[in-house]
Amino acid sequence: MKAHLHHFDITREESMLLPVEFHRKTRLQHVDKAFKAEITRIVPLTDMERLYQLRILDPGERERFTFFPGQFVMVDVPGFGEVPISISSSPSSKGLVELCIRKAGLVTGVLHKAGQGARVGLRGPFGTFFPMEQMKGKNVLLIAGGLGIAPLRAPLYSIIENRPDYNTVHLLYGARDQSQMLFGYQYEQWRRVGDVKLHLIVETPDPCWTGEVGRITALLEKIRIDPDETYAIVCGPPVMFKFVCNRLSELGLPMHRMFVSLERRMHCGMGKCCRCNIGSTYTCLDGPVFDYWTVMNLKEAI
Ligand SMILES: Cc1cc2nc3c(=O)[nH]c(=O)nc-3n(C[C@H](O)[C@H](O)[C@H](O)COP(=O)(O)OP(=O)(O)OC[C@H]3O[C@@H](n4cnc5c(N)ncnc54)[C@H](O)[C@@H]3O)c2cc1C
Ligand code: FES
Repeated sequence: MKAHLHHFDITREESMLLPVEFHRKTRLQHVDKAFKAEITRIVPLTDMERLYQLRILDPGERERFTFFPGQFVMVDVPGFGEVPISISSSPSSKGLVELCIRKAGLVTGVLHKAGQGARVGLRGPFGTFFPMEQMKGKNVLLIAGGLGIAPLRAPLYSIIENRPDYNTVHLLYGARDQSQMLFGYQYEQWRRVGDVKLHLIVETPDPCWTGEVGRITALLEKIRIDPDETYAIVCGPPVMFKFVCNRLSELGLPMHRMFVSLERRMHCGMGKCCRCNIGSTYTCLDGPVFDYWTVMNLKEAI
């Protein structure tokens, strides 16, 4: 018998059905896909982060490459290894994949030394994705902290390109300081063309900063949220999920309508190496996108 959950408008069983279906499709379609790609453009964003545009070399593969917002690819730097990176571009940009990469260690360090024209391998796309179809007709809260804006750009572009399908869209973005805010050159376009209500906040203001100061949760107090008509996507450091999702929960948003992207160390990206497990859950197959209800039921997920 289906147990109806407190203040949720669908049952636990029902809420699980869609993601499971997503996973199966993902596993079947994309497990064996590997491509050679060329770096066609590099945009320096900060000292530590760069945006890479990659073009799949084979024209046929390039045409066939599709992904859903929230999925990731494994980037192979020959001789050094592979790293999972979220796709940060529009799902409609055929065969051109944008990745925002922070210099974190060996492989990402080598990538930061690579120039335009360098070749890398790509595998994927892998993983679960944000339910863009389900969100249609609703308000959407996109909430990012720091590098979390990278995985958030794909759903953002998906919404902007299908703007009439969505109701009010707020983007809340927080960073340590202004110099760490990524994609500043695109904010005006997101606001004007995308009709996205953008709210920015920094923890440590520069003398020239005139905007909000504090933690990202402070921005939630500045907007009106209709809990019955709203979905939220939250990307950033795991510590942020708890504060943001708990506050959203207090404001009445059901946990199954909040989506987060969890990062774990990954090796194969396809459920074979057991590097990414949280208990019996594979982050690479069953995630990285989870609804917050599921996250709350995964021991030590955040
Ligand atoms: C699904 C997914 C999506 C990701 N998307 C992005 C993205 O869009 N942009 C981006 O810059 N990074 C992203 N990452 C993180 C990225 O994969 C790691 O920074 C990268 O694997 C580090 O590899 P490295 O060889 O450069 O560093 P290493 O030499 O392997 O490690 C350097 C340091 O980074 C830590 N580290 C390694 N992997 C992770 C991880 N997964 N999470 C947290 N810390 C880690 C190590 O513990 C070590 O302290 C993502 C990770 C996952 C799982
Ligand atoms: S990364 Fe190998 S099982 Fe998930």
